Amino acid sequence: MSPTTHPEPIRLADYRPPVCEFEEISLDFVLDPDVTTVTSRLKVKTRSGAPETLALDGRELTLKSIKIDDRPLGRDEFQVDREHLTLIDVPSTCLIEIVTTIAPRLNSALMGLYLSNGIYCTQCEAEGFRRITYFLDRPDVMTRYKVRIEADLASCPVLLSNGNPVGGGKLANGRHFALWEDPFRKPAYLFALVAGDLACLEDHHVTRSGRRVALKLYADSAAIDQCAHAMDSLKRSMRWDEDAYGLEYDLDLFQIVGVGDFNFGAMENKGLNIFNTSALLARTDTSTDGDFQQVERIVAHEYFHNWSGDRVTCRDWFQLTLKEGLTVFRDQQFSSDMHSAAVKRIADVMLLRETQFAEDAGPLAHPIRPESYVEINNFYTRTVYEKGAEVVRMLHTLLGAELFRKGIDLYFARHDGSAVTCEDFVQAMADVSGRDLRRFMRWYSQAGTPEVRVTREFDSSTGSLTLEFTQSTPPTPGQQAKLPLHIPIRVGLVGRDGQALPLQLAGENAKGETARVLELTEERQSFTFVGLDAAPVPSILRGFSAPVRLRSDLTKDDLLHLLKHDEDAFNRWEAAQSLAAEAIVQAIRMSPQRQPVPDADLIQAYSRLLEGSIEQDHAFVARTLSLPGRSFIAQQLSVIDVDAMHRVFKTFQETIGRELEAPLLAAYRSMARIDDGSTRTAAMAARTLKNAALAYLVIGQPAKFEPLAVSQYRQSSMMTDRLSALRILAEIDGAAGASLLEDFYGRWQNEPLVVNKWFALQAGIEDYKSPERVEALMQHPAFTLANPNRVRALLGTFSMANLIGFHREDGAGYRLLADKVIELDSKNAQVAARLLTTFGRWRRFDLHRQQMMKSQLERILAVPGLSRDSYEIASKSLG
Ligand code: PHE
Ligand code: ZN
Repeated sequence: MSPTTHPEPIRLADYRPPVCEFEEISLDFVLDPDVTTVTSRLKVKTRSGAPETLALDGRELTLKSIKIDDRPLGRDEFQVDREHLTLIDVPSTCLIEIVTTIAPRLNSALMGLYLSNGIYCTQCEAEGFRRITYFLDRPDVMTRYKVRIEADLASCPVLLSNGNPVGGGKLANGRHFALWEDPFRKPAYLFALVAGDLACLEDHHVTRSGRRVALKLYADSAAIDQCAHAMDSLKRSMRWDEDAYGLEYDLDLFQIVGVGDFNFGAMENKGLNIFNTSALLARTDTSTDGDFQQVERIVAHEYFHNWSGDRVTCRDWFQLTLKEGLTVFRDQQFSSDMHSAAVKRIADVMLLRETQFAEDAGPLAHPIRPESYVEINNFYTRTVYEKGAEVVRMLHTLLGAELFRKGIDLYFARHDGSAVTCEDFVQAMADVSGRDLRRFMRWYSQAGTPEVRVTREFDSSTGSLTLEFTQSTPPTPGQQAKLPLHIPIRVGLVGRDGQALPLQLAGENAKGETARVLELTEERQSFTFVGLDAAPVPSILRGFSAPVRLRSDLTKDDLLHLLKHDEDAFNRWEAAQSLAAEAIVQAIRMSPQRQPVPDADLIQAYSRLLEGSIEQDHAFVARTLSLPGRSFIAQQLSVIDVDAMHRVFKTFQETIGRELEAPLLAAYRSMARIDDGSTRTAAMAARTLKNAALAYLVIGQPAKFEPLAVSQYRQSSMMTDRLSALRILAEIDGAAGASLLEDFYGRWQNEPLVVNKWFALQAGIEDYKSPERVEALMQHPAFTLANPNRVRALLGTFSMANLIGFHREDGAGYRLLADKVIELDSKNAQVAARLLTTFGRWRRFDLHRQQMMKSQLERILAVPGLSRDSYEIASKSLG
């Protein structure tokens, strides 16, 4: 065995500008599954104006020839190693021609040029272009691209790249070619090529300034009838970006291609987005309402990148949040404008707290702009994306909508066509507002979730309420000491009678506003509100105005008061969540000595919500009635006791289902009447509440309500209803579950995305037989490690969403996951490393489980030739 050499981290502090620019690149592809020839011609200009040594990036390429200004280079004029082609004394201006070959069919990493169901496609972010040809594969090298694609006409009638089609034609031997030119300079990570037998859905968009843009969605012919929703979403996104930000699309053609094998959700390549089919296809019989919303969101996200990412891109990969945080914020704004703003905010906050907070509290914690990395692919994280979006949202909150928009305008005007840093973004915000945002910049460099504590004191003699805030951030790996941050806290005061009270700070004139933003910048600060007759209930951190853990001294009665009266919908939901979380955590601490029961006040509050007199938005009601997520609760326990957690959640659900039988059933029936089977927001909301009610009913009284779920499964033609019914039937493990699971597979075995749901559903059933069930499912003919969606459906769901199964006492779940991570690592390291992150939580469990998880991490680390991706996650997890 060779000694393990540890890959060195790359550091932000070591950033140096590139030694040269490429004015233009012309790329010629002769496509073949086993030997694709790529000829690259680079117009080079060194920055110094003098000859330079040039180290081009390249991986898994077969070098055929190099010429400089038409002169072939001899063997002693360059060096090649596993990662670079080094050219010595390259003239200050010259033309380099490099011919390489690659093998798309053997590409299982799905980076660079690969084949997905016979379709050639590319994935170049972050560092995939170097698997296509030798290049300066870094985002601050922006180049104009001319592309020629040649392929077999019969198997590849469609040939696509970025920009505009400028020519093409037939060749001898049944081959043909196409020429593409992208007028916009771009970094290599935005390059794309697609070739294959694809069906096309066409439409168009007329921009606000009257330009006509052709819209083309490409997919397998069997799936093209599932593209209409994506097309609608695209048109809505284009309109929205014009209305909300004044940003128009800039080419005459916008293309999206869906492929089945894809490592992430989708990719914003200039003018040619490439999507995982799971983020593109939607039809009501095969996709859930959640899928519809996800498709809409991701189509919008990738489209919005055309400005926040493509026109203005990142200087280096440490700045990833510059484009991702901003674009997630923009897609959140879009979705909240399309649907219910409150429900959208709740969903986003739940995701943040369940996933990003957990990441921030573990061994993989990093600031939204990391200072170093071993493998950049490991940094497409909840922190960079979702916390990054929260940081942009805080700027929006601090500046207000109008100044924020001015800041965005200035940012795009200043930096259009260039590769910039997070400082450039915040500077634009500082310049339009005149505000000092230096302390705010700490959000970019400091990891960990800040904790904000607030206590209150009411002085009845002066009619004043003082809120005293303190902030602190726990240490994270490599960052022991933390500094205070600039934190916007949106607040309101709710009077005894439920009225929103005007907020007047001591020393200020009354303005009559009932909501305002307090700004924390110090470790300890207090604010005194005056003009109050009686002690109000403070509503703090409205809309979750900052990504912090809030600890307040609100009592149960205060929370019940807020749940009833707070004008801020988010905080009404938050009040219900806090009440439930408190009760669940207490019950877990008492278990197993005492039978856990939700308290009567909570049940009563749920009952009032169900009766529907207070809340109009049915999806909001469903969210508010739902118990907090497992991960959110787990974060509040010093040691995660999976068995106790499972027992408590189950008992809570059973009790709610039994005690609220009448209002749940009434809600079920009235929602079924409102549900018209469409995907309008109101119909989706009705189904959300309907299916939440069904789940409670069936869990509460399985024998009594199993038939209701069975009939919903059989009678509905909508995937949302079918899958909800099936999930609950499989979970209670009654008479119908097994046979309906079989029925489901039989119906949908030819729809890969539905088969993923079938795998995920079974991987997520929380019971002690899960490791064996998952093991058996891996033997199913439809299972393959080669498809990331399938791996995520089965192994991702099992390891992330099946607490008692994955963490079973004998370690069977851990062994299974580690076996598969090891098997996958040599094929697709990115997906392997991502699966591995669950083991990073090992410190949160009891000693026995800690030991077992740790030894699996050690086992993985000892694998000879382990990828950089998995090495980084495993070693940091143990560190
Ligand atoms: N840039 C993509 C997005 O967030 C994500 C992605 C990263 C896709 C890396 C593929 C590879 O929109
Ligand atoms: Zn993105």
